[in-house]
Formats: sequence, C-alpha cells, structure tokens
Amino acid sequence: MKWLTFCAAALACLAAAHAQSLTGRWAGNGSTTDNGMEIVVALNQGADGRITGYVLGRSQDTITDGKIEDGKITLEAERPGRNGDTQKVTYTAVIEDGKLKLTMPMFGGGRGPGRGPAGTPGAAPGTPPAAAAAPGRSPGGGRGPQVFELARVSTEVPKPLPPKPAAVSLSFPAPVKSNGLAKTPPMGWNSWNKFSNRVSDQMVREMADAFVKSGMRDAGYIYVNIDDTWEGAHRDAHGNITTNNKFPDMKALADYVHSKGLKLGIYSSPGPKTCAGYEGSYQHEEQDAKTYASWGIDYLKYDWCSASQVYDNTQATMAAAYAKMGEALEHSGRNIVYSLCQYGNLDVGEWGARVSGNLWRTTGDIRDTWASMSHIGFDLQPGREKYAGTGHWNDPDMLEIGNGGMTEIEYQTHMSLWSLLAAPLLAGNDLRDMKPEVAAILMNKEVIAIDQDSPGKQGVRVAKDGDQEVWAKPLADGGYAVGLFNRGDAASKITAKWSDIGVTGTRKLRDLWKHQDLGSMSDSFSAEVPSHGVALVKIVK
Ligand code: GLA
Repeated sequence: MKWLTFCAAALACLAAAHAQSLTGRWAGNGSTTDNGMEIVVALNQGADGRITGYVLGRSQDTITDGKIEDGKITLEAERPGRNGDTQKVTYTAVIEDGKLKLTMPMFGGGRGPGRGPAGTPGAAPGTPPAAAAAPGRSPGGGRGPQVFELARVSTEVPKPLPPKPAAVSLSFPAPVKSNGLAKTPPMGWNSWNKFSNRVSDQMVREMADAFVKSGMRDAGYIYVNIDDTWEGAHRDAHGNITTNNKFPDMKALADYVHSKGLKLGIYSSPGPKTCAGYEGSYQHEEQDAKTYASWGIDYLKYDWCSASQVYDNTQATMAAAYAKMGEALEHSGRNIVYSLCQYGNLDVGEWGARVSGNLWRTTGDIRDTWASMSHIGFDLQPGREKYAGTGHWNDPDMLEIGNGGMTEIEYQTHMSLWSLLAAPLLAGNDLRDMKPEVAAILMNKEVIAIDQDSPGKQGVRVAKDGDQEVWAKPLADGGYAVGLFNRGDAASKITAKWSDIGVTGTRKLRDLWKHQDLGSMSDSFSAEVPSHGVALVKIVK
C-alpha cells in the first residue's frame, strides 16, 4: 500500500513537473496586421531547468542558454547578421493562460559598440543596416520590440535543426544588358521610413491619390514603392510568391496606381527571407520577376538581408546573386527599374551597373536625425561620384523630409545635398498629410531640376573648412549648382570661391531656395548660413 502511495505521489510530481516544463514547440502568427509570418519556438528544458532550442521567425535564432526565474523566462540566443556575422540577442517571455508570451528583440540587435547604423557617426565601414535602431522603428516589427502570443503545439523534445548547408559561392558574373531605364535619378515615394510594416493596399491607393492632389506627381515624383512586409507566409503549390492579407490583389493595385499616371514599385531579397523575415526570392528569381511583371510592377528594390546566410558574402558571389535578378528582370517582359540594396558593401559602385542596377545603396539605413542624415550625405558620399551617370545612380537612401525628426532648415539641407548628389528622390513621409513647408521643400522645382539635370553628373565637395562645406555640381547647360553648407551649431558666413569650383570671371547667380536672382558676382559668393543650413545657388553659364 505504502509502495502504491509512493508511486502515485511520484507520478503526480512528474506530471506537475511536466506541466510546468517548457519543453516542446510553441507557434503563433508573427504579426497582428498580416498573415505573413509564422513564429515557432522550440524549447528543451533540462532537469536542471536550463533551456536550449531555437526560434524560427524573422531569422533562425539558436537559443544557447535560457532560464526561468520567478515565472520570468530569459532566452539568450544567437542570430545570423546581414554581413555573415553573428549577433547576440535576448528574448524574454512569460507563460500566461497556457500561452507563451514572447518579447522579440528588435532586428539588428540594437546599437552595440562599433555596430551602429552606418547613418550614425562611428559606424564601421560595411556595417549592416540597423533600421531597428531607429527610434520607434524596427523592420517588420513596426515600433520597437514586439510581443507575440504562441500556443503550445507539442510537448515533445524538439528535433535539432538540420545542419546549415555550406555557403554558396558563385563566380563574378558576365555583364547583364542595361535596361535603359532611370535616365535621371528615380523620383517617388517609399513606405518604409514612415510606415515600416503598416503599409497596405488601402494606404498605397491613398498615397497615389495624394501624389496627384499634393502636386508631387506633377513635380516629377512617379514611383509609388511598397517596401518590405507585403509578402505572404508561403509560396503557392507552384512556387509562386504570394501576398499577405494587407495586399489582396496586387494587379488591381497596380492598375489603380497606373490609372493615376504613376508607377508601382515592390521589394524583395536575393536571400530566402527579407530583412523583416518575409519570403525572399532565393532560387525563385526568374519566377518572381515574371510574377512582378504580370502584376504590372515597374520598380524592384532588392535587399541583401538573409542572403548573407546562404551565400559566401564575397564580391563575386554577391554580384552574381544580383546579376541573377538583373537577368530575370530583363527576361520578365516588362521595364522594371532595378534598385540594389546591400548597404554599399564590397565596392558596389564597381559592379552595380554591370548587373543592370539602376541605383545602389551606398550606406546602411538612414534615420530621421541630423546626425544620421548629415553623416550619410556629407561623410559617406565623397569618392563615389565616378560611379554615377545616366541610368545608374548612387543611392544615399530615401528621404526623411517631413517625418518630424529634423528642423525645416535641416530638411532643406537634406533636399539640397541629395539633389547635388544626383540621388534618387524617394520621399518617405505621409503625403496624405503634408505641411505646406514640407511640400515646399519636396516640390521646390528649381532644386529638383538640379537633381534631374541630364546628362547627370554627381556633385562633389570642392571645399571644406571645419563645419563649412562647399559642394558643386556641373550642369548640362554649362552652369553650376553650388551648396554652401553649415554643419556647425551657430550661424556663419561661408564663401564659395570660383577657383574651387573651376569657374572664372563675373557670373550671374540665382538663389534656389529664395527663388531670387542675386545679380552678378566676381571670383566668389558669400552668404550668412544658419546652423545646419544651406545657401543653394546656381551659377549661370
Ligand atoms: C533594410 C533596408 C531598409 C528597408 C528594410 C525593410 O533594413 O535597408 O531600407 O528596406 O530592410 O525590412
């Protein structure tokens, strides 16, 4: 009898221990706004309480160590980075009503020492983008860390993940025929900077309406670009890419956008997953390009992201991976502008045009701050001008004008500098609700004309004295656009010397922000420039 009681007690104990054990698989939907991503957490809790396992979601994270203390679960994990590196991340979780409530850290792992976004001073060259470090913005996550509710789908000890296949190496590709598009830097709008994963069919339609109503279309902004998070969780039975429930009918959306005299852009990755963890184009390049063409897509942003996990991250392989999609777009039967996004790594300027890229990012992700914008614009662009020209442009990332993190003066500097750089002008704000001063900056036709000057030459820094910089861009009509920039904290007088720019004699000048002729000047032009501001003038031929 005693023995039976003992056995019953032992069984009860075991059952209780089992009920509390976290071992097993937990699954749930990765986002509340779409049906795009399933998250699976596989846990194995040992007799000593230690937890190991993995998280499958935006990336494949290995849980190296975990514990539960006072009901609070902490999971230390390793996540593959976008440059083939490894990042350490910490998940926290609690069990509530039998569900695992998991707090997912921001993608990119925050801003650890030496790996800030390339948009901030101190970032190492080749630093992967860290959009997640942007205040209030994280790829696919919307706003900062996110909590997911996962239901238990099994109590079995999870099987280990299959070993990672060897990295794919490819040889440097033969040149891909140029598509002849983007004769001037592309102009339009992109959903990411302001909306991250909240972009939807409805929003894109409203934005297209706003392009027309605000005058943006007539000022030259044509591309309405959907960034990450439009993709479905899985391909269909034939391997075709699908949309998630935020985008019920991409073809109908393209028809709508086209009916407004605009063009529609989309986003993917050469890797199996996009940066926000959605379906990428790896091994489906031709098929996806054809799907885009059948929908009526006019522009593709192709973002390296998880490609770092399948390819060997050498220049030859990366160029070949981009060439694959370049070829696929060429065979798609439609004119599709090709935008490379690999954060300016591996000397992309040397090969971006050879893979038929019309533009390529030169840095990590921009943020809506003076530090980020000015570092990207002033510090990281010099030397790249030799790569820019008709049909192939350096892309210092999308505009933040109107997103609220900078002053009107700083946004004027942003617009002026991007135009002198012959950069793509992709607005990143909410066009449905634009303050007049923001509209005036984005639609300053005289500044846009500098950006779009054809045949395009990228402007260069011709003088630098501490916080004062003078940049000049030669124009097709023989004139020059000249920016006198003050990066300092106090207003100062800045002089642009003809000898630095390479002009002589007495020249007529026009102020492109004040829309005023300034008369004629000999040898130099001086202006009082506010802190973080610009005087942008045209030296007439
Ligand atoms: C990367 C890119 C961004 C944006 C996000 C989307 O961070 O650099 O511009 O496309 O991915 O996830």
